[in-house]
Amino acid sequence: MKTLTIRRPDDWHLHLRDGAVLEGVIADTSRHFARAIIMPNLVPPVVTAQDAVAYRDRILTALPQGDRFQPLMTLYLTEGTDPDDVAAAKESGLITAVKLYPAGATTNSHGGVRDIDKAMPVLERMAEIGLPLCVHGEVTTPEVDIFDREAVFIETVLDPLRNRLPELKVTMEHVTTKDGVDYIMGSSGNLAGTITTHHLIINRNAILVGGIRPHYYCLPVAKRENHRLALRAAAASGDKRFFLGTDSAPHVDPLKECGCGCAGIYTSPNTMSCLAHVFEEENALDKLEAFTSLNGPAWYGMAPNEETMTLVRQEQPVSYPSKRDTGAGAITVFDPMFPLHWQVVE
Ligand code: NCD
Ligand code: ZN
Repeated sequence: MKTLTIRRPDDWHLHLRDGAVLEGVIADTSRHFARAIIMPNLVPPVVTAQDAVAYRDRILTALPQGDRFQPLMTLYLTEGTDPDDVAAAKESGLITAVKLYPAGATTNSHGGVRDIDKAMPVLERMAEIGLPLCVHGEVTTPEVDIFDREAVFIETVLDPLRNRLPELKVTMEHVTTKDGVDYIMGSSGNLAGTITTHHLIINRNAILVGGIRPHYYCLPVAKRENHRLALRAAAASGDKRFFLGTDSAPHVDPLKECGCGCAGIYTSPNTMSCLAHVFEEENALDKLEAFTSLNGPAWYGMAPNEETMTLVRQEQPVSYPSKRDTGAGAITVFDPMFPLHWQVVE
């Protein structure tokens, strides 16, 4: 029997939603993760410090009794964001980062940034006070192929921004390409990347071969196999610049299984089992802790969790519910398409 004990993990990119969905999904995160960076793309989005206080309260209220989970709040950057409001929110310890969604890039991002020049006063202040920018790194220009959007974003938006403001700490979220991995590895500082569980497991065939499979559709969309392999190598390397952000993004099934389905994959329940499987395949179980529990806190200037998590490799496959029932409807849980043997036991 194989056993692995690591510091308790954190999730550096998570969608918890609100209302009945929040109530239905939060335990799947708080059961395993001590902290998570909470995405602000609600409808309407979490734009001001006041919005973030109210949302944090709703999250804490939805937490199961006794869970010590800490939501790390973010603000949704708009062209009208007030630098003073952002600075005060950081100063008070309320927020951990600000999130840049290029307008129209993904779910609930229509209020995002169209012209980055308009956000420069906020970004300059963030650079001054050491507040990281979390970036959804895709351009939305209709001429750019959806599979190229990350690479074009790096070249036309991210690199110019980082040259203009080298002091700004940028987290490139849910990196999905070798281009993204190479860009982070080639940088001389102030840049890190999160990688999701599902992008380590699926390539674009999962979405399209043998029929269209909405539960494997997310944004950024999964890419070719060579990109998946680059992500696996980066995650399994232990390199401090890469860490887990699940991007677990629950949508109730009718919103996925329809003519224009939402982007998002719900991975919170089985993420740790999936990751142990991937790291074992990479012969890198000794690097799992760096990826899930050490590199993220180091980047955000926090101590790693004192508590630990133990995973055991079971002979028989471990089963997970295929759906999570919530007051808003059922949400399909990510199916990695292979049996999972690693189980979180404590
Ligand atoms: C996210 C969502 O549903 O909010 N969807 C997704 O596919 N990851 C938005 C996002 O992070 O892009
Ligand atoms: Zn996301």
